[in-house]
Amino acid sequence: MDKILVHGGRRLRGSVKISGSKNSALPILAATLLTKEPCTISRVPDLSDIHYMLTILSELGCEVERASGTVQIRAEKILTHAPYDIVRKMRASVCILGPLLGREHEATVSLPGGCVIGDRPIDLHLRGFEALGAAVKVSGGNVKVLAPHLKGARISLRSNFGSTVLGTGNVMMAAVLAEGVTVIDGAAEEPEVVDLANFLIAMGAKIEGAGTRSITIEGVKELHGAEHEVIPDRIEAGTFLAAGAISGDEVTVSRVIPAHLESVTGLLSKAGFEILSNGSQVTIRPGSKRVALKIDAVPYPGFPTDMQAQMCALMATTEGISVVSDHVFPHRFMHVAEMKRMGADIELQGGTAVIKGVSQLGGAPVMASDLRASAALVLAGLQADGITEVNRVYHIDRGYESIDEKLNELGAEIERVKA
Ligand code: UD1
Repeated sequence: MDKILVHGGRRLRGSVKISGSKNSALPILAATLLTKEPCTISRVPDLSDIHYMLTILSELGCEVERASGTVQIRAEKILTHAPYDIVRKMRASVCILGPLLGREHEATVSLPGGCVIGDRPIDLHLRGFEALGAAVKVSGGNVKVLAPHLKGARISLRSNFGSTVLGTGNVMMAAVLAEGVTVIDGAAEEPEVVDLANFLIAMGAKIEGAGTRSITIEGVKELHGAEHEVIPDRIEAGTFLAAGAISGDEVTVSRVIPAHLESVTGLLSKAGFEILSNGSQVTIRPGSKRVALKIDAVPYPGFPTDMQAQMCALMATTEGISVVSDHVFPHRFMHVAEMKRMGADIELQGGTAVIKGVSQLGGAPVMASDLRASAALVLAGLQADGITEVNRVYHIDRGYESIDEKLNELGAEIERVKA
């Protein structure tokens, strides 16, 4: 297994181009199953999760062609059963259920794998399909959904943790070909849901309200091929801004949508950094004093759970006491034990990390446990004295396009050691 060696203490300066959003691209690629006609998706990031999704689509019978960031898919004749070997590698493979159900009236996938973040159920997805008239059967590690006739309905996707992002996309993808009108209450408001809705609309779907808590979908008979450019990855951008905060003289993220980053840039300026937005660029510079914060990870437009670990890395060396709570995935704190190995002073109290800032972290061998935790460990390594060895970096390659090369271009010293 590859590992990453971060030589701490280098200052970052310069500009980094942000890739297309992984979390947008995954359901959008799945949505191409909804039509027999060819679709062209651009700004698709080169990541292992994307590779898994394209492999699933090929295994289902789609013709898939990829040239740099552009993918052409034609789902003329398709199967409805996704093979376990690939599906188990990625939780987001669950989002082929909605389009297969919409188009073929049935779908079977294995229960999803992916990041190890506590228990990640798909009950809300299934509740949505049932409301549209599907029968759901879970057996032998597979979920099968079957609906000879899909009928629009009023569906609530609210849970104790907020809504569900992939669940909202999944139900939306099934409902676009259902008979009549579907209203999703308690819908996720994330920009990735809006991006998927925009692609579906370009395919001929009738959708209103994406980006709000209530989405209305009027079913149509069929969809056609379309072209779409994926939105920039707000989490990759946020991670580079956090890197700039941790170890930067001046770091600019370019090709971003600053509005999607507001909760992150808002917190970074509260933490004492200077933030400048200019068109599709955001720059971070050190301010006069760093400030410890209370941070709550909540659904969009609030501060994202996918940036929680990176903020823990920043707060680990910010003088004072920071309190970081994750209300979306309360168990998502696997990075804490690893950061403590680097000298961080963090106490976990349920879904809350109480962080006493120390003046300096020290390099140590650490273990990446999930995608964002691994990014956070690399960021912690940037400010540590000595070398931080991040093991199991396949997690990071699931969601960051060449993070080591991009950080090195900014002045970091990171080596990737091939296994
Ligand atoms: C997506 C993102 C992930 C991000 C998360 C929250 C993708 C590929 N991944 O994951 O990076 O961290 O949104 O912003 O887009 N839940 C249920 N029942 C369900 C579904 C979810 O109880 O059926 C709970 C989850 O356990 C969690 C919360 O709802 O506590 C939010 O999960 P959800 O929005 O579904 O996350 P994903 O869409 O899987």
